[in-house]
Amino acid sequence: MTTHCQSQAHLARLHRGHPGPSARPPRKVCSRLVDPETLKTEIRRLGPWHHEIEVVPGVSTSIARDEPYPEQYGRVTFLDWRDSFRSKMLSLYPGGLRERSVLDCGCNCGECLFWSKELGAGRCYGFDARAHWIAQGRFLIEHSQLQSDDVTLEVHDLYEVPSLGLEPFDVVLFHGLLYHLPDPITGLRIAGDLTKELIVVNTATVTGHPDGLLMLGKEGQTQLLSGIYGLNWFPTGPEVVARILAWIGFAEWKLLWWHQEVEPGRGRLELVASKIPGSLSSATRL
Ligand SMILES: C[S@@+](CC[C@H](N)C(=O)[O-])C[C@H]1O[C@@H](n2cnc3c(N)ncnc32)[C@H](O)[C@@H]1O
Repeated sequence: MTTHCQSQAHLARLHRGHPGPSARPPRKVCSRLVDPETLKTEIRRLGPWHHEIEVVPGVSTSIARDEPYPEQYGRVTFLDWRDSFRSKMLSLYPGGLRERSVLDCGCNCGECLFWSKELGAGRCYGFDARAHWIAQGRFLIEHSQLQSDDVTLEVHDLYEVPSLGLEPFDVVLFHGLLYHLPDPITGLRIAGDLTKELIVVNTATVTGHPDGLLMLGKEGQTQLLSGIYGLNWFPTGPEVVARILAWIGFAEWKLLWWHQEVEPGRGRLELVASKIPGSLSSATRL
């Protein structure tokens, strides 16, 4: 098994400064290659996966899609997000992330942090309440071609994060977490207080009500993609999220998109907010 890997991008940075956003994941220089069959067995064992990731050329997490997993895990949707994440971040930072630090709250397997590294991010930290997802992320750090220097993944509940004493981050990702929380206002505040520059919030919404409300949800605690408390709330629109962010100290916000009904009774939106006035001018509505 691989014991030591160092990314080419890291080597490039040492030799000629920051490499900027690259179109393809830079290949790691690994001291020993993992046997492909062992790799595939591990990918299946660690499933189900929520994200399509190319682990090494020709082998992706999609190989685990047809595996049977325990019913209590619930339905785990399978997303292929890399391109849309890249477009979004490049619309916000046309020159790439240029060593900006990135925090991902409810990071799942850390996919957005690996993609942020491809865009030139510096220190990256992700946490998720479930060991299942962090085990996947650590496997990717250890055995994939993804750039992962200075990427840390830990099992933490959002509400314990203030006690960790983390240094604030330039960019904070809050994808798919808001509507899994018993107290979304405190949850967003924890993330907002750790943000120096920009936060991206992607959340489900509830349809059929005026924007401005938090509606009680109903979810279990054992499904891998759910919250862990059994109490959750859905915002009825972007105004809810934006007003909380303004209260936390964000100077401006922009709605990137809002699909008001993606399934019966549920919509989805993504917005960005910045603490630096004027910095969202390049953000395009996607
Ligand atoms: C819908 S998934 C979103 C995952 C990923 N951020 C994405 O956008 O694909 C919700 C994630 O939040 C995690 N999660 C739920 N409650 C949490 C909490 N209180 N603290 C940290 N993570 C939590 C879940 O384990 C899961 O990985």
